[in-house]
Amino acid sequence: MNRKYRKTIIAGNWKMNKTPAETKKMFEELKVACGKQKWCDVVLCVPFVDIPAAVRASRDAKIAVAAQNMHYEEKGAFTGEVSAEMLKELGVKFVVIGHSERREYYGETDKTVNLKVKKALEVGLRPIICVGETLEQREFDVTAEHITMQVKIALAGVPAEKMRKIVFAYEPIWAIGTGKTATAEQAEEVCGLIRAVIRAKYGARTARAVTIQYGGSMNPKNAAELLSKPDVDGGLIGGASLKTEDFAAVINAANQ
Ligand code: 13P
Repeated sequence: MNRKYRKTIIAGNWKMNKTPAETKKMFEELKVACGKQKWCDVVLCVPFVDIPAAVRASRDAKIAVAAQNMHYEEKGAFTGEVSAEMLKELGVKFVVIGHSERREYYGETDKTVNLKVKKALEVGLRPIICVGETLEQREFDVTAEHITMQVKIALAGVPAEKMRKIVFAYEPIWAIGTGKTATAEQAEEVCGLIRAVIRAKYGARTARAVTIQYGGSMNPKNAAELLSKPDVDGGLIGGASLKTEDFAAVINAANQ
């Protein structure tokens, strides 16, 4: 974390979990468990159908609501899809773009990620752009090349003045849902690389203001160490965001 230059953001990604009633319950519990978060912002990325309940419950909880995906077109014949405008109207503030599960199971590419990033910014949603390497890429020692390409394509055509709205999440695919966390050094190395790619394109002032999260089996036990690294500005948390106690503990780790 580097609180002087950028916000620490702890985001829970619920993936396909929790009904609207369960959403309301967890927000109420978090209000009690977390108290005031002085040093970090809290975001919950909820399923589409949970958004109205989450927005309602978030009003006095100081939690921003995010969607987990969106379409890049404004409207049209895209059965089953949801537009950025629809999310914005509901009171959504952030949107996860290019999560590895969407890339793997639903054919999202760097190109569609870029289209979604631009659309989200146009509408006033803050993108949380996910990048990360597979185990095979890490073993072939092409992590840096892969991440550089993902970041560069995601940001193609994004003007400097919009960069403060962008959040990156470094999520090594081999660490997602596996209980295998990247070491704090590995997380720092890749988060630092993402910042270097931003710096090369937009300059040092812009690069130091961008929040770059780590995601992949982050939990109450390892959060403090990961967050102690200067380029790790928060977390995108899957499994550990589903239980109030665990998520509150990660938030508290970011508040020390
Ligand atoms: P886990 O924390 O369950 O590994 O999931 C990470 C993730 O994919 C968050 O987007």
